[in-house]
Amino acid sequence: MRIDILTILPQLLESPLNDSIMKRAQEKGCVEIHIHNIRDYSTHRQKSVDDYQYGGGAGMVMTIQPIADCIEKLTSERTYDELIYMTPDGDLLDQSTCNTLSLSQNILILCGHYKGVDQRIRDLFITKEISIGSYVLSGGELGAAVLVDAVVRLLPGVLNDETSALTDSFQDGLLAPPVYTRPEEYKGHVVPEVLLSGHPIKIEEWRYEESFRRTKERRPDLLD
Ligand code: ADE
Repeated sequence: MRIDILTILPQLLESPLNDSIMKRAQEKGCVEIHIHNIRDYSTHRQKSVDDYQYGGGAGMVMTIQPIADCIEKLTSERTYDELIYMTPDGDLLDQSTCNTLSLSQNILILCGHYKGVDQRIRDLFITKEISIGSYVLSGGELGAAVLVDAVVRLLPGVLNDETSALTDSFQDGLLAPPVYTRPEEYKGHVVPEVLLSGHPIKIEEWRYEESFRRTKERRPDLLD
């Protein structure tokens, strides 16, 4: 998979996408991540990327020219499955969207800033608008990092058996069950006996019941 990210703050994406599992996924060739600085595409004398909004009001708007030029260059080189705009008024990101996106060949992600991008960029180029939650971030970069992490970890070869995404919360529509490691007892708090029983079927049953109980308590909406 190839992911192109368009941003005015490339440094915000460096650390989250170049460490741990995301770093390994790139080293193993499971994903190529290309970050493009929108400012490099600006034809303005001062390389500006924003302007006052028509109609007045506080906050700047990201201008069409540098974003359109960058998108047009990339789309002339390959076809994208989705051109995504990160925005608080987009569709709420969930596991099912991540699963679907993980089947893509190429995706492009545009990070907004200030009051957002000129609406014509959204109308002309964007095929999907995504929000990572009902709150407003300073820009789309952290949202893009969340999206890329959630998608890339699903790609074949990224996770090994132990960290397999199949046992994640949400993959079977339920939250994950509680987990324990050594020691068996901490200040009188003990590990549930069944997990020490060595009985795989009983352990599986216990995990399913705990997943169900947790989901009913914390996220009953997932059971609807
Ligand atoms: N940009 C600003 N807020 C955002 C959010 N909640 N999700 C995605 N992108 C954003």
